[in-house]
Amino acid sequence: MKRRSFLAGSLLAAASCETLGTPPPSAPAAATPAKKPEGKSILELNPPETILPVLQNMQMRAIKPVPHKPPVYQQDQLVLLHFADIHNDVKNLRRVMEFARHYKNYLTDALLTGDIAGGTWNDWTDEMMAVPGFKDVLKTLGNHDIYKWNKTQRDATPRECHDKYFAGIESWGVVEPGGTNPDGLCYWYKDYPKCGVRLVGLDCMHYDDAQQAWLVSTLDDARAKGLAVVTSQHYPPAGKAVTGLPNCPFDSLQRESLGGALPRAVEAVDAFQKAGGEFVCWLGGHTHTDFCGTIDGKQQLFINVGTAKNFELWCDSRRVTGEKSQDLFNIVSIDTCRKHIRVLRIGAEWNRYLQHRVTMCIDYAARRQVG
Ligand SMILES: [Fe+2]
Repeated sequence: MKRRSFLAGSLLAAASCETLGTPPPSAPAAATPAKKPEGKSILELNPPETILPVLQNMQMRAIKPVPHKPPVYQQDQLVLLHFADIHNDVKNLRRVMEFARHYKNYLTDALLTGDIAGGTWNDWTDEMMAVPGFKDVLKTLGNHDIYKWNKTQRDATPRECHDKYFAGIESWGVVEPGGTNPDGLCYWYKDYPKCGVRLVGLDCMHYDDAQQAWLVSTLDDARAKGLAVVTSQHYPPAGKAVTGLPNCPFDSLQRESLGGALPRAVEAVDAFQKAGGEFVCWLGGHTHTDFCGTIDGKQQLFINVGTAKNFELWCDSRRVTGEKSQDLFNIVSIDTCRKHIRVLRIGAEWNRYLQHRVTMCIDYAARRQVG
């Protein structure tokens, strides 16, 4: 049943008085309901004087240190805008892209790790793809993106998903399986040679032997080329078999929402590391709440970002339209010289446990928070 608004109820009461011949005490001049205030734009909430000092530092990359000399920095760091679980929230997507456009000189790429659609495959509109810049966003699939008819049927094929969600992939600069004649599969990698990083995008929803073999060879190739690897996908890689970083505000105390796993991919990364490969971290979504920690029994760090949709289910933060908490995404920069990941939160920075998420710096080699 549809819930009647308080305002609608008042108008109905006024109309009843008139029917009974008693004039309403003060008939409302405007019969149309008041429009819900939109509040502040994302740029008003995140103005350059607040954001630029952080982005300018995130953009700096240390180059090979010389003993007994101060470090030398270059201004070409890999900086990703990472968001997840937008769930067909076109209004919030416009805000994310407005931020990305405004600060484009400080961002290398934007990455969306799954749940582009709302509840199901059909709960999605071309309006999303029409949002300026969205076609250029690197994407991975989430569980809701492949529920074709209802939430029990994960039946959208890779080819169907590729056609629907990966429109514009030619502009992403990624390498797909099949190379110049792509196979229509929903996983890929992208190299950032100046920064020494390979970003891998996995398809958790159609994970099969072929994708596992592709991941193993993609990791081997990165190791041969001396590239550190960041993996991105929808699911947290190991579900609840993880340990949070001590006192890390980006690791929620709401452990219930950890779910999903990619055990074979975790083993592939483990073998890559044992062979001498450099692994940075897993960037994921799905949980709708922030998590940050290490996979039990492995030397692997993961950072899960909460939902970018203005929506509180599973999210551990109060979300208020028009206030800072309406938005939720991270800016992530990776410094392979210092072995640092630096994270800046845009949007919801407080949660119900009063954990305050603003910035953090992690030594990914030691897997501990350093700032
Ligand atoms: Fe989701």
